[in-house]
Amino acid sequence: SIIHVILTGGVGSRLWPLSRKSQPKQYLEIFEGKSLFEMTVERNSHLANKVMVVGNVDNHHLSSKVMDKTQTEFLNIVEATPRNTAAAIAFAAFASHPDDVLIVTPSDHIIDKMEEYNKAIHEAILKANEGYIVTFGIIPTKPETGYGYIESNGDKVISFREKPNETTAKNFIARGNFLWNSGMFCFKAGVLLDELKQFQPDVYEKAKIVWESGKNGVLDLDLSLEIPSISIDYAVMERSKKIKVVPASFSWSDLGSFESVYDYLVSKGHAVDKNGNMVIGTDKYTAFLGLKNTIFVCTDTANLLLQKENSQDVKDLYGELEKAN
Ligand code: GDD
Ligand code: MG
Repeated sequence: SIIHVILTGGVGSRLWPLSRKSQPKQYLEIFEGKSLFEMTVERNSHLANKVMVVGNVDNHHLSSKVMDKTQTEFLNIVEATPRNTAAAIAFAAFASHPDDVLIVTPSDHIIDKMEEYNKAIHEAILKANEGYIVTFGIIPTKPETGYGYIESNGDKVISFREKPNETTAKNFIARGNFLWNSGMFCFKAGVLLDELKQFQPDVYEKAKIVWESGKNGVLDLDLSLEIPSISIDYAVMERSKKIKVVPASFSWSDLGSFESVYDYLVSKGHAVDKNGNMVIGTDKYTAFLGLKNTIFVCTDTANLLLQKENSQDVKDLYGELEKAN
């Protein structure tokens, strides 16, 4: 079968205070009354014949609520604690037949141009059936340090580099044959597990123990804490020789940081003042004096004023706030 695997374990900490542990950004109903999670389910519903939702114990009731509404049959994999994407993807692969093709997507991206999207997925499924691990390459527009980069030649992948520093990212952009990794993947479950076993045997073995000891997809906390926390990008993508890239001609935005939310909102006509300052979350008149390229985020319980360039630092701020609480 073809299985759509939805990763929804993150809290979207880079979007605090819009995004909260109790209400991660993928469940905010911000687009015409729909959440990004629901849009993700709908976007893929005709491409796969099964759905697996890999989320955590804090928010699986939110995904289940949406799934019940869409009346799609699904398997819920409930992590006791987030152990990053290598483990999350491994659980879905262990739950599948080795020949099943998995389409793995985050639940918090905005994608437009459905015809192009469907074409890209169909192409990816063909390559996955040939035994490849398929990534989707986005043409980069700036030296973003929060993404993975795919050095490519046609559909061949020369190298994969997760989250380079700024100098390296600039160098990649200048060289021209680098694409951004969209964070979506397509592969046969068995192929991914073989690669994980080869490159991260510890993650493979411990995730296997956790999966096998789980009851109805609900996973044990103590055993889960033994799994090394590493993303699939570092664990497999940077090392595997079986990667192929499908160019993504659909339009894509990972609303991953306030900078990308800003760019997305600008493209939709959201107001910015003459110095590039933006307000999110309130209709109250707000003035900026002597400030440039800042974002003012308002919610009922917290506000954030940030320099757009510091968008990646919100994650650290969130971490400090978590510790303080
Ligand atoms: N179930 C589960 N468990 N999901 C998780 C976990 C986990 O422990 N950790 C992260 N996720 C989910 C997130 O909610 C998100 O949907 C997806 O997995 C990717 O995790 P992120 O934390 O958002 O990764 P990233 O944005 O830093 O980097 C990835 O995406 C970029 C594009 O958006 C990488 O694949 C990059 O290479 C890529 O460019
Ligand atoms: Mg992300």
